[in-house]
Amino acid sequence: MRNFKRHLVTSALPYANGPLHIGHLAGAYLPADIYVRFLRLMGKDVGFICGSDEHGAAITIRAAKDEKTPQEIVDRYHEMFKDTFEKVGISFDMYHRTSSELHHQTSQDFFRTLNTNGEFVEKESEQYYDEEANQFLADRYIKGTCPKCAHEEAYGDQCENCGSALSPTELINPLSTITGNVPVLKKTTHWFLPLDKYEMWLKEWIETGKLDGKELHNPDDWKNHVLGQCKSWIEGGLHPRAMTRDLSWGVDVPKEIEGSEGKKLYVWLDAPIGYISATKQWAQDTGKEWKEYWQDEETQLVHFIGKDNIVFHCLIFPAILRAHGDYILPHNVPANQFLNLEGKKISTSRNWAVWVHEFVNEMPEHIDALRYAMVKNMPEIKDSEFTWKGFQDYNNNELVNNLANYVNRVVVLVNKYYEGKVPDFDENQDLVGVLGEVETSYHDSELLSLFDKLHVYCDHVRSYDFRSAMNTVMDISSNGNQILQFNEPWKRIKEDEESVKAVMNLSLQYVTALSVAIKPFMPESSDKIRKLLNLPLVEEKGELLSLLDDLAEGNHLIQKDHQISTSDHLFSRIDDEIIEGQVAKLTAMSAAAVGAAATLEKPEEKENIAFDEFMKMEIKTATILTAEKVKKADKLLKLTIDLGYEQRTVVSGIAEHFSPEEVIGKKVSLLANLAPRKIRGVESQGMILMAEGENGQLGFVSPEDGWPNGMSIK
Ligand code: 2FM
Ligand code: ZN
Repeated sequence: MRNFKRHLVTSALPYANGPLHIGHLAGAYLPADIYVRFLRLMGKDVGFICGSDEHGAAITIRAAKDEKTPQEIVDRYHEMFKDTFEKVGISFDMYHRTSSELHHQTSQDFFRTLNTNGEFVEKESEQYYDEEANQFLADRYIKGTCPKCAHEEAYGDQCENCGSALSPTELINPLSTITGNVPVLKKTTHWFLPLDKYEMWLKEWIETGKLDGKELHNPDDWKNHVLGQCKSWIEGGLHPRAMTRDLSWGVDVPKEIEGSEGKKLYVWLDAPIGYISATKQWAQDTGKEWKEYWQDEETQLVHFIGKDNIVFHCLIFPAILRAHGDYILPHNVPANQFLNLEGKKISTSRNWAVWVHEFVNEMPEHIDALRYAMVKNMPEIKDSEFTWKGFQDYNNNELVNNLANYVNRVVVLVNKYYEGKVPDFDENQDLVGVLGEVETSYHDSELLSLFDKLHVYCDHVRSYDFRSAMNTVMDISSNGNQILQFNEPWKRIKEDEESVKAVMNLSLQYVTALSVAIKPFMPESSDKIRKLLNLPLVEEKGELLSLLDDLAEGNHLIQKDHQISTSDHLFSRIDDEIIEGQVAKLTAMSAAAVGAAATLEKPEEKENIAFDEFMKMEIKTATILTAEKVKKADKLLKLTIDLGYEQRTVVSGIAEHFSPEEVIGKKVSLLANLAPRKIRGVESQGMILMAEGENGQLGFVSPEDGWPNGMSIK
């Protein structure tokens, strides 16, 4: 691959209309983070850019649903995204937002230039209109059956099932998402980008990587499914696409342009320009020159996205950039496919998802394990699947049993034999290498094989094959383990002290290499290993490059006599209970969401009671403080409940639905004056109110966050 002077890496701007799930993480954020951290480790000049996508129907529809203003919605999710990305270790250089003034100006300037260059075609056309809501129905305001895959819930701009980009007029049986009415056609004028005019060069660029006689990229480096989607779009014929909308929320078409009143930029025009405005902000904050990252051919521009964004990043945005004239085009768009969850598609409306903000709060000690499992399951070339059991296995069998075990053994043995000092050794000694063969000098063999492995790892990252790259790192750890196993220092320490020094020194070189190589995948674990080795943290300032140089020159990575630290936990096992709790939670939350969406038949109700009878009940807000299983009773949890004015013990029959960990801290409603009764020898002083669904699913009747304990519920 070409040696670029600098790199600009972007991740799709997430719509600020709902939380992020693990599918988002595996699609556009984690792979980009790995790539960027790797580039930094190789000493490259790189900017990592993202931000919240705060315009378009995705936002206004959500605002209407929640009875909030669009600004309230985007503020809420923007803050949440920033926090979640930070906690999960996505190391953006700039996380910006499209509602910012800088972005409005940047995208309006862009629009002006395209308009002045005569790139737009202003056209009156008929578009779908909801007569009851008095609104044109673009993008997500209209739903219907996808003409490509027959999915019945496709939006006017794209089908989330098959990832196709659509126009409202392509939908079969279109309906307004505001009122559910069948829309009518009504005339309106918009600015169109004549994609048909650009078809020739787009086709050449996509198929050959060449433009104006210059070779910009090699299409063999692009993923097949990305090229496939682009080619099938081009084959279907490109059509002019409206770049403006009749909406009340978004970036205004610049006021001085005639006919701009009531018109906003199309969200797929403004959002990718968000990459540019975010770069401007980053450059302003750090004294860089933003244009170098967008307008110099020595920059490698790479967009990380999910497959539903392919057409926008590979055809429409490049067309916009070239129509402007000053910009480079992406060198690659390594889009990922979709991640499924426990055998089903991830679905926000059905609440079939693992929400990243919940994971980072519930399992903060397992964030690197999540990153690891995501890479293992990354949908790099085809859809893939995450299961909680698989997550547990990766953690327990690979991270704990291989990596943590290896690092721990080395650190413990070096402390035991040499009081934590890196031992010196005689180079001309027999040592058994990874292949189980006796070698006389490990410099010639094991350190060189480490060097080769690290090169293979680099090549995998450069070709966006992150799973193979991470497997290569784990192989280094397995090889290290094998070297220990073959040489058995714990046996030889008595009879052959000199060779044990060589083995342990080699092992420390391996662990040092691992501490750098795992940084892109598991940054916190890299920090932990560096602390164990008592070496400075990897700051991603060319450390991998120096390490490769050192190995090439035959230098050691950790020097003799260096004092390391004592052992500490790198990864901890994840027990069955935690996993079962997560699966139960997924099922319960989804059942609740699906129940909420369905139209239920009226069930038989109990007979009426008098008001006074109801008033006899003392129901209080409370919080669960502790929870434990009741021995020999599968269904029961023993809980301590805080009522604000006193604490109670309550035995509750919820153990088959919730693990003790899940319920601790839960706000609940307690029937406080239920006569105490003994259950399995424990006196239960009240009853927690639960909602039970048709299929036996249970949920807590929880007071809102912030309500104090001890309030009366009437
Ligand atoms: O699909 C989405 O979530 C879009 N908000 C992605 C936008 S990417 C970019 F162009 F900004
Ligand atoms: Zn479809």
